[in-house]
Amino acid sequence: MNVETPTSAPGRVRGRVAGIGLLVTAAVAAAAAVVEPPHAAAGPPAAGDTNFGDPLPGLTADQLARFHAGKAAFEEVEGAADGLGPVFNGASCAECHNGEATGGGSGTLSTRIGAVVDGRFDPLVRFGGPTIQTKGILGLEGFEYAGEVVPPEATVVARRRSPPLFGLGLVDAVPDDAFRELARDQRDRHPDTAGRPNLVPDLRTGKRVVGRFGWKAGLGGLFDFAADAYKDEMGITAPGFVRTPDGRTIGEENAPQGRADLLRFNPAESPNEPDVEDIVLFTDFMTFLAPPPRGEVTARVRAGETVFRQIGCADCHVPTLRTGRHEVKALDRVKFHPYSDFLLHDMGALGDGIEDGRGRGSEMRTAPLWGLLTQPAYLHDGRAKTVEAAILLHDGQGRGARDRYRDLPPAKKRVLSAFLNSL
Ligand code: HEC
Ligand code: HEC
Repeated sequence: MNVETPTSAPGRVRGRVAGIGLLVTAAVAAAAAVVEPPHAAAGPPAAGDTNFGDPLPGLTADQLARFHAGKAAFEEVEGAADGLGPVFNGASCAECHNGEATGGGSGTLSTRIGAVVDGRFDPLVRFGGPTIQTKGILGLEGFEYAGEVVPPEATVVARRRSPPLFGLGLVDAVPDDAFRELARDQRDRHPDTAGRPNLVPDLRTGKRVVGRFGWKAGLGGLFDFAADAYKDEMGITAPGFVRTPDGRTIGEENAPQGRADLLRFNPAESPNEPDVEDIVLFTDFMTFLAPPPRGEVTARVRAGETVFRQIGCADCHVPTLRTGRHEVKALDRVKFHPYSDFLLHDMGALGDGIEDGRGRGSEMRTAPLWGLLTQPAYLHDGRAKTVEAAILLHDGQGRGARDRYRDLPPAKKRVLSAFLNSL
């Protein structure tokens, strides 16, 4: 991890906004129809009455208690005796996910590495990949673990920004088939910009599922992401997971710089956790975390959304998705507005070179645009300091929309900006 800018996001707390349901429905009826079973009953509102870091509206007392217990676990700072390390990037989830409120994003970057050898991608597990852990604990016999560095064998080095987690329980609750259908619909309606679902192993069963979390949609669900982050960012391992195609499992420590022999100085036995209780707690917190609040929807903002659709941004930044049937009422067939299809698109030069699941080097997951204004920097590695710079860096399948944006008259650019700033 490269702590470049833990600059916290610009402080902003939005007022409560009523009537969010009205806002996108008409504008995006076409996109919504794709993921919406015609007979589905409308669930409770998922947004519109919450602030950053709030739980979803309409939770039961038991679910609220799980949210708060999960939040405490998410904020808890771990030490070597708890299994932290031997190499790690952060001592709590909240260390990197704290912008606006616990669960937000930050400017903290994590480093992924790999090498392409004979046309095949190698995540360099034997040299400390795929994630570099830059800090080390004090081990047995006074052994000081050194933080990992990018090994000379790495020909691909990607930095990834810590994204906000607001509203991801809704994304988790969208059925795999809805993403497949969305991809098919894109192929029919606008093949030039059509995305495809990443396909990745479920970390407990090995079964292939639709990836949707991470900048390359490399993991299929919040539980899997929590398990993976606990190990890859904090070095805390847990039992009950299968081996992935790259030969790793959540139950085994990350060997520092790939050196398994150094694990003998690790004070905590592996797997560090007796069970997946902590992972369940993190998952509960994220599952019940409300989406970011929407800014005021003025006539200008609505005009901006029209431009957004006209120049093709909404092809990928799909305004409305809908969850499937869910045992949690607040997540049951709820419409929400992430402005993403969570599919992979070929972004040309913007791709980070990492291959993950069936995601290729040039492909990236459409970044959700909700809460955009709170981001400390934009794009997967934070290379864009402004929203406009982020748009102008779109390449590959995003090039057409980028060029249409570039050619807009200034007045249209301004209403588009008002729209983006309201998300
Ligand atoms: C050192 C910083 C750091 C720590 C600590 C950390 N994360 Fe993250 N988190 C990141 C980065 C960077 C990404 C983007 C990863 C990627 O796409 O490769 C991320 C992505 C995520 C995502 C996916 C978000 C999305 O939009 O798809 C989830 C979920 C998540 N983290 C949960 C957690 C949980 C739970 C913990 C604690 C167990 C945790 N993180 C600890 C930096 C961190
Ligand atoms: C072909 C699909 C596609 C189209 C069309 C597209 N985008 Fe994107 N957009 C993406 C992907 C993928 C990313 C993430 C890229 C990355 O981080 O490497 C992204 C990222 C962004 C970001 C940065 C978000 C963040 O949190 O970092 C903004 C802002 C954005 N897009 C706005 C727009 C606008 C405005 C348009 C229309 C002019 C547009 N996009 C058109 C796919 C698309």
